[in-house]
Amino acid sequence: MGKEQQVVRKRKLAPSILAADFMRLQEQVDAAIEGGAELLHFDVMDGVFVPAISFGMPVLKSVKKGCPLPLDVHLMITQPERYFTDFVRCGADILTVHYEALKQPARVLEEIRTWGVKAGLAISPETAPEVVRDLLPQIDQLTVMTVRPGFGGQTYIPECIEKVRTIAGWIDAENYPVDIEVDGGVKHDNLEIFLEAGANIIVTGSAVFSGDVRKNTELFLQKMQEK
Ligand code: DX5
Ligand code: ZN
Repeated sequence: MGKEQQVVRKRKLAPSILAADFMRLQEQVDAAIEGGAELLHFDVMDGVFVPAISFGMPVLKSVKKGCPLPLDVHLMITQPERYFTDFVRCGADILTVHYEALKQPARVLEEIRTWGVKAGLAISPETAPEVVRDLLPQIDQLTVMTVRPGFGGQTYIPECIEKVRTIAGWIDAENYPVDIEVDGGVKHDNLEIFLEAGANIIVTGSAVFSGDVRKNTELFLQKMQEK
């Protein structure tokens, strides 16, 4: 019997449309795809779990029609399980819930998989990495928030990088097939820090959608392949 093969976490860019120009959304999503984006990040905010309100099901449904990429839906909402049916029906491919919003994380994660989509778990900057350790077998994607959830365009919190490294160590040691996503404040000139810590899915909003979307995306991809 051969040795079990080490799981390789493929690097992917997930532009967050929170920073897009909604009057030109199709054009901007197309530009991100042309530039090499492989996921589209969709930030849902309810004004309760986070102070801001963003967008929800009707927008997701439209985006699904015009975007062939898997949709990475980040639920910054309380009691997210109330809406799983709706988000799945509207086109989510990955459903990420916040640890801080859950009473029974293990049960909620199990439920996400029963919907036939990937189960994502996110932790906010104040949450210790240890809380996810026992949940890793039930997670397809782990998101380390590198800013306080709720707004785009913030500067990343350096202390969060260590959490990425810690969790990546656990995932590698057990060879779990779990992607590690970082979300918040990732720019072209600091990307390397996140990659080096072990992240493979890079969410980026303002750094992709300000200016030339295609060029911004290409530059991220180029830097992600270099390292
Ligand atoms: C923040 C959101 C992020 C945000 C990232 O709560 O979860 O996805 O859009 O935007 P930037 O890259 O501008 O920090
Ligand atoms: Zn997000």
